[in-house]
This record gives sequence, structure tokens and C-alpha cells, in this order.
Amino acid sequence: MNELLILETQRELEKINYPTPLAISKEIVDFSKGNKSKIKEILKRLSDEEPWEYIRGYTYFKGYKIFVNKDVLIPRIETEEIVDIAKNYIEGNFQIFDIGTGSGCIAIALSKIFNNDIFAIDIDKKALEVARKNTEINNCKNIKLVNANLLDFQFDNKIPTLIIANLPYLPTKNIEKLQDSVKKYEPISALDGGEKGSELYAKLLKQIKRKNVNLKFGTFEIDSSISKYFKEKNFEIRRDCFGRERFVIIPQVLPK
Ligand SMILES: C[S@@+](CC[C@H](N)C(=O)[O-])C[C@H]1O[C@@H](n2cnc3c(N)ncnc32)[C@H](O)[C@@H]1O
Repeated sequence: MNELLILETQRELEKINYPTPLAISKEIVDFSKGNKSKIKEILKRLSDEEPWEYIRGYTYFKGYKIFVNKDVLIPRIETEEIVDIAKNYIEGNFQIFDIGTGSGCIAIALSKIFNNDIFAIDIDKKALEVARKNTEINNCKNIKLVNANLLDFQFDNKIPTLIIANLPYLPTKNIEKLQDSVKKYEPISALDGGEKGSELYAKLLKQIKRKNVNLKFGTFEIDSSISKYFKEKNFEIRRDCFGRERFVIIPQVLPK
């Protein structure tokens, strides 16, 4: 019975040119418990470009279930790589700052690897509420949620620190070019990095110096459109699984 429904759903998804009909038709039927009017409603929302992750209410990041709603960006597959970069560089006693935590996905994946204190920081209180729910369902006891603008909060700057940041990094003029599903549904405040796109990272680098953070290592997620800013300062840039310039390596001693 459900097989037939899955096939019908797949056909309907093909009609609206949904990019991966095979992959999600079963998920839709399972989620709606085979209820045809519910399936119809979901198909309508998908045809209006609403992301499946928001309709279903969750996604997975590094295998961990992460609740999402319109207050947070849907974690991207390439962002999982930032966790691997961080994992390879850490040793000894340190604290971790996840700046621009959103759903909390990076902090949660890191907390499954390290027992160290992890500060999950976001300027947006609504995003932090989602992160709170996610840290609870994933049972992450070492994550402290912090509502702050970048590093504007009280911390011990003597403790060796690892900084991971996935801040808004798209130049404002590029927002218009994004897919409708992103523009219509995802929080623009999580994407718009200002006129040049590098403004928040520039501010963060200044704060790291000014606050004498005992930085051991850091990595920032970026868009290739802003890589020039970091290359000019001799930072190492790494590519993601799609071959795009995506990660900046922040060494212990910052370039001048
Ligand atoms: C690109 S999203 C990343 C979310 C999540 N880390 C991920 O990888 O899916 C950027 C996040 O940075 C937050 N943010 C924007 N400006 C900030 C600031 N000045 N200080 C702290 N967080 C900020 C946004 O609210 C948003 O949740």
C-alpha cells in the first residue's frame, strides 16, 4: 500500500521538478503516516519552494538529529567539514568558541568528540532557543549557550582557545542571486555579511587581538567571493567537498 503511495508521491514531485524526488518521497510518506491530505499539503508547500527540512522540522548534521525552524539556517553538508578540520588540530586543555552557532549543529558535533567547555555563541536569541533544544535532545552537557555579539562576553582569555566561526559571509549584493527557497524561507540575518561580506570576520579578528585571546587554532567558514580578503592577509584557504574555497585557517599567531 505504502509502496504505491511512495510512487505516486515521487511522480507528483517530478511534476513540480523537485530535484531529488526519489530520495524524499519515502520520507514524506513516512512523515505523513500515509495520510493523503497531509501529503498533498506537503507537496503544496514544497512547490512553494519551502525547504523539506523546515516542513519536517529537523535535519541531520554529522549524524546527529538537529531541529530547525525559520529562526535558524538549515545546516549545510559542507559545514560538516569544519568539524573535521577542528578535530585534527586540537590537543590538551582548551575551551572552544563556536561563534554564530545558529541551530547549535557545530557545537553539538564537537561536544561528541571533546569533553572541553564549548561556548555556543549567537547574537540572535531565537536561534539560541533552537540551539538549546538541540543541546538538550543530543544530551550535550559541556555546551554553554551565550547570547553575544561575537566575543562581547565575559570569558577567561588565559585558557587556550579554539575558535570555530560560521558567520554570515555573503556580500549583500549576492543575496538577491540566492535560490528562492533560501531567500523566501531562511533567515537573511544568518547570510548577509554586509557590503563586502567579510565585515563580521574582520571585526572578529580585531576582537581576538584586542581581547588577547589565547588562541591556539581557529577556522572560519567563508564563501569564495570573500576569499581574496583572507588571501591578501596570507591566511591559508581550504576547499570544501565541492571544490569551492570554503575554510580559512586561523593560526596561533595572526598574520599582520
Ligand atoms: C551562517 S549562520 C550559521 C549557523 C550554524 N553555525 C550552521 O553552521 O548552520 C550564521 C549565524 O551567525 C549568527 N550571527 C550573526 N551575526 C552575529 C554576531 N555579530 N555575533 C554572533 N552571532 C552572529 C546568526 O544569527 C546565525 O545564527
